[in-house]
Amino acid sequence: MSEAKIIDGKAFAANLRESLARRAAVLKNEHGLTPGLAVVLVGEDPASQVYVRNKAKQTVEVGFQSFEHKLDVETPEADLLALVETLNKDDAVHGILVQLPLPDHIDSQKVLDSIDPAKDVDGFHAINIGRLWSGMDALVPCTPLGCSLMLKDTLGDLSGLNAVIVGRSNIVGKPMAALLIKESCTVTICHSRTKDLPAVCREADILVAAVGRAEMVRGDWIKPGATVIDVGINRIDAPEKGEGKTRLVGDVAFDEAVQVAGAITPVPGGVGPMTIACLLVNTLSAACRQHGIEEPADPGA
Ligand code: GUN
Repeated sequence: MSEAKIIDGKAFAANLRESLARRAAVLKNEHGLTPGLAVVLVGEDPASQVYVRNKAKQTVEVGFQSFEHKLDVETPEADLLALVETLNKDDAVHGILVQLPLPDHIDSQKVLDSIDPAKDVDGFHAINIGRLWSGMDALVPCTPLGCSLMLKDTLGDLSGLNAVIVGRSNIVGKPMAALLIKESCTVTICHSRTKDLPAVCREADILVAAVGRAEMVRGDWIKPGATVIDVGINRIDAPEKGEGKTRLVGDVAFDEAVQVAGAITPVPGGVGPMTIACLLVNTLSAACRQHGIEEPADPGA
């Protein structure tokens, strides 16, 4: 059997950002509206700092306004809640993202629930979760939104396909299930207690791995020709590159899976780049909804 098609998330995300830039220009010219995204970072977690820097850079590149708020790691919860309240009221801010994880002394759920659902571009607020599950218009978590866009681009109509999701997190597994149900897939969510996980995975036309365990999904878990979406980003030792070196791998054993699957996302360069692009998609949607404007079509499409 020939090797799987590699789904190029980096190129897909770059195209999506170009399209967003053209649509943002239409919004500005026709409505005088510039979408604004506020990102709040508490503390100095290195990975979070990299994410926040990339978000700000890409926000400006597509012609949106970027607002960055960097707070000391000791910031009291009440101060963070007060900042969110200010951003909720700020008309130039259409999307608010509070970077996770937050320091232990802050109740993350309380902070997420304090964000105006109309500005909740992460899609983590209970209102947006409920709207998504009941098939209403909602702001949808960015990583599963990116996976869904790549799946539709790869497969076209998803209706009737068996989708198996490995992982039941609130950020990926559960919203991914809601999105695939919306596309009329038959959806199974697996987790650490699932019986005979490899056998369940072998039934999947679409297999989404989002467990955070390096290379857990093996080649012989995959139905020949299936589409595999690997959400995992795990850093493992790579002695072959030299002493102390590491490399990034997904939740899928790529070298095995690529021999069996019909299409597969690589790590890095698959799902990862789509997350920020989808954050910008959500910011544009949120800005339009807040102003009662229909989302502009892409003039370059
Ligand atoms: N930390 C890592 N990824 C994310 C994300 O998508 N949203 C938020 N708020 N924090 C994160």
